[in-house]
Amino acid sequence: MPVLLDVDTGIDDALALLYLLGEPRAKLLGITAMEGSVPLAQVARNTLAVLRLCGREDIPVALGAKKPLLGRFSPSGKVSIHGENGLGNVSIPDPVRRPAPCRAVELMARLIEESPERVTVVAVAAMTNLATFLLCYPHLKEKIEQLVLMGGAAWCRGNFSPVAEANIGRDPEAAQIVFSAGIPIKLAGLDVTYKAYATAAEREAWRDCGTRAGRFAWEMFIHYAAFYEGAPGCALHDPLAAAWVLDEALVRSLPAHLEADLCGRYTRGATAVDVGGAKTGRPCNALVGVEVDREAFAHRLLAALRRLP
Ligand code: BDR
Repeated sequence: MPVLLDVDTGIDDALALLYLLGEPRAKLLGITAMEGSVPLAQVARNTLAVLRLCGREDIPVALGAKKPLLGRFSPSGKVSIHGENGLGNVSIPDPVRRPAPCRAVELMARLIEESPERVTVVAVAAMTNLATFLLCYPHLKEKIEQLVLMGGAAWCRGNFSPVAEANIGRDPEAAQIVFSAGIPIKLAGLDVTYKAYATAAEREAWRDCGTRAGRFAWEMFIHYAAFYEGAPGCALHDPLAAAWVLDEALVRSLPAHLEADLCGRYTRGATAVDVGGAKTGRPCNALVGVEVDREAFAHRLLAALRRLP
């Protein structure tokens, strides 16, 4: 299955990337990156370094947005769950190549245009790159099979504001453009990604699986797991979106009409999920994840890490 990945690499973005690289059914055509969990230059470095670690320097990486469609990203001011370098402060060799000499949206357009099959886009950052692409290249929408998005919080509280999840809250206008594009959407929001956690024993199995990718994943998550002390495990937000691409049955979902709130005084960036369109009478534009087969997911993730160098 041809896949494009949009990231702001980040610990769980890096694990989503490893998942796709270790999944023989996914053909990762290219990666686009934007500012997010860490500044754009660090996102670029992290993404290229993870590809180098896995011997996949053939996969093009292009850089996109440094700010949301409107305004600027506000500095978080808190100790980041991703660590100072975005990879849990784990050091891996620097990349030996630079990002592609084109913008993220140009790379997306070229790869989608050239692909003989329709392409699945997995976006696990704010949706600025994706929204910009849809505005610039509307004729290419029909070549997109589906959008699998990590973002939103329908019934649980937010992690960016009391009600907004980070990938939507950081650029709600972009999210709304994506939600209304008319392309089939699968939304892996906090409601289901918090249920897709990895226990300490499962992370130790990554370490012991015999690959440097597995050991790197375990090491990164030492920093991340510290933020989940007292919980049964740490949430694998972005990897769940990657996994859902290949295995529909991993996630139980509900069809819904989905909107990003743009104007609420306290609710800007919240995702309004109307199951079945029952309350608004609007058509369903997304499948919203509600439950995950956590054990099957853990098993597939470990298998993917085992296949890598
Ligand atoms: C999202 O925010 C980022 O920190 C994670 O990488 C994930 O994409 C979860 O809200």
